[in-house]
Amino acid sequence: MALKQLSTTMTLSTIVSILLLQFSLASATNPLCAAVCVCEESIEEKFVKLDCSKVYLSIVPPLDDWPINITHMDLSSNNISALDFELSHNSVEVLDLSHNRISTVVQNAFGGLNKLKYLNLATNAIRSFDENGFYGLEHLKSLNLSSNGLYFLPDGLFYNFIGLQELSLADNPLVHIDSIHFNRMINLRWLDLSNTDLYTLPANIFHTTGQLEFLDLSANEFHEVPIDALRSARSLQHLRFSENSIEVLDKKSFRKLLTLQVLELNSMDHLKEVKEEAFSDLANLQSLEMKFNRHLTTIDRKAFDGLFNESRPTLQEIDLEANQLRTLDKDMIACARVRKFNVQRNPWVCDCSMKWIKKCEIQKIYAADLKCYEPPALHNHLIVNLSDKQLECNYKDTPVAKSMVHHEHVVRTISVGLAAGLLVILAFGIALIFKWKDIRSWYRSNRKGSGAVYYVRARANPREI
Ligand SMILES: *[C@@H]1O[C@H](CO)[C@@H](O)[C@H](O)[C@H]1NC(C)=O
Ligand SMILES: *[C@@H]1O[C@H](CO)[C@@H](O)[C@H](O)[C@H]1NC(C)=O
Ligand SMILES: *[C@@H]1O[C@H](CO)[C@@H](O)[C@H](O)[C@H]1NC(C)=O
Ligand SMILES: *[C@@H]1O[C@H](CO)[C@@H](O)[C@H](O)[C@H]1NC(C)=O
Ligand SMILES: *[C@@H]1O[C@H](CO)[C@@H](O)[C@H](O)[C@H]1NC(C)=O
Repeated sequence: MALKQLSTTMTLSTIVSILLLQFSLASATNPLCAAVCVCEESIEEKFVKLDCSKVYLSIVPPLDDWPINITHMDLSSNNISALDFELSHNSVEVLDLSHNRISTVVQNAFGGLNKLKYLNLATNAIRSFDENGFYGLEHLKSLNLSSNGLYFLPDGLFYNFIGLQELSLADNPLVHIDSIHFNRMINLRWLDLSNTDLYTLPANIFHTTGQLEFLDLSANEFHEVPIDALRSARSLQHLRFSENSIEVLDKKSFRKLLTLQVLELNSMDHLKEVKEEAFSDLANLQSLEMKFNRHLTTIDRKAFDGLFNESRPTLQEIDLEANQLRTLDKDMIACARVRKFNVQRNPWVCDCSMKWIKKCEIQKIYAADLKCYEPPALHNHLIVNLSDKQLECNYKDTPVAKSMVHHEHVVRTISVGLAAGLLVILAFGIALIFKWKDIRSWYRSNRKGSGAVYYVRARANPREI
């Protein structure tokens, strides 16, 4: 289908000219293009791209074989195990070495790549770098070091990176990271530190990275939110903090993160409780994701206090899917002002306290999987399908019911009294039955009156009386 369209819309001549262009570069100018790589160039857009991925290379091709004006070199998904000579080329801007088996990187490996803007070394086996590992990369904008074995970063490693905008250190066993690494990254906007075994961050770590907008700290070992470090990132807009060992979020957790717009707090297996005003300081928060927290049972009704203030930009998207919430207070979330509202897959107790959810617009609340867990009669019923009558409360909670409860109390007190009385009477009766013979004989002996006494006296020795 797509091919048919292509053949009808493209004239034969354009196809031929494209083929010729590739052919000329490939055969006339370059042995790599002739042999293993897919090469593409555009004079208008000023690029010469070599795609040498997935061709089982075990070494980096000698620089003499790279086209003189190459801009993009893709060597990803090969079998390269070492960078054992200094790469030197003054037109390449993009170099992708990801998905290889690189474990050794010689000193000054990138020393001669003075135009390089983007370097991808992700998914290799690099455990450490020399202090001067990135010497010479003065124009680098993006560096991807994710999924290696990095456990140590020399102090001066990132010294050149004044222009760096994007850095990923994700999926490395770092454990510690220091302010000195970010000291000179005054243009850093995007930083991924997820899954790096971090449990703490120095208080002022981002005070020089004034442009940092995105920070990923998920899948680490934090037991509390490193709020001082976060506050040092003065422009932070988007924080990922999922999969950490936090148990409770409170007023102090996100204090004065005034620039934050997006917050992700998902899959936190230890999170149990969100206390009052936990999010109240996030004056610019627009989107909150707090889902798949399988022990989160409690969100205080004042957790979001202040976020729906008319004079502030309001929280627009709230996603609380798949927690362990049983009820939500109707004053907590101004659902009329929220664009997205997802509270599906929680064990909701369907009673009058949940009535308000039906009044939120259905498309906002993700109703398809919004079901009751209790009471048993409504188990697995869709909340939107319930009538108002079904969403009545147990009589215990309504005012009428409360007076009935009082009534019941009085009745109960009386019946307890009666029961006690009956019990006494019953005990008396039982005693009567069992002791009947004794009582009877006592009665009979009594009936004989003084005669009996006399008889006793007559038999007794008078001296003993
Ligand atoms: C690259 O260099 C070759 C020959 O040196 C030239 O033919 C080609 O036009 C150049 N390409 C670009 C995009 O500058
Ligand atoms: C990669 O190189 C190793 C030895 O260096 C070799 O055993 C392995 O078969 C190579 N893998 C591929 C896919 O070529
Ligand atoms: C880094 O590389 C990994 C693996 O190729 C990729 O998944 C990730 O998106 C890259 N990150 C950036 C910021 O380019
Ligand atoms: C709303 O915000 C303004 C200024 O930020 C504050 O003075 C006011 O008390 C807030 N109102 C409520 C209801 O919180
Ligand atoms: C909910 O109501 C809709 C339409 O009223 C109906 O099609 C659907 O089967 C109901 N679903 C459940 C689970 O009761």
